[in-house]
Amino acid sequence: MRILCLCLGNICRSPTGEAVLSAHAARAGLDLEIDSAGTGNWHVGQPPDARMQAAALAQGFDLSDQRARQLAASDFHEFDLILAMDAANLADARRRVPDGSRARLVRYLDEAGIGGDVPDPYFEGNFDDVVTLIDRAAGAIIGRISRAP
Ligand code: 4NP
Repeated sequence: MRILCLCLGNICRSPTGEAVLSAHAARAGLDLEIDSAGTGNWHVGQPPDARMQAAALAQGFDLSDQRARQLAASDFHEFDLILAMDAANLADARRRVPDGSRARLVRYLDEAGIGGDVPDPYFEGNFDDVVTLIDRAAGAIIGRISRAP
């Protein structure tokens, strides 16, 4: 199964989602392919925001090898599940769905059974809380996949 985490810049929330989901999948012994992208292109090629990297590392998640990229039409064919961090990211992705898309699109916290948007720390600054929230939700998402037939 292939999962793509999606946010706006691909330098804060979705890189964290990628790292956290990967860690949970590994712990659960699941062989998942997990990646991330942004709807915007401002930060393409850049590593995650230094504030996000520090907060993630403090909770055990290393984001330093990641580089931002923009959502591509091919992602809709290559990924089974696209997890959007907020409603705007979801709406943007829905507008770009190409013919023949295989991906299911859903908000990250909705897939976890928590519901709502992951707040954007780039503007709001609550990096530690965002890691904690993404981590809690990842446990639920990976648990659900583990139990699926
Ligand atoms: P992200 O946060 O979508 O969680 O990566 C943002 C990063 C950069 C910008 C917006 C959100 N920006 O406007 O540059």
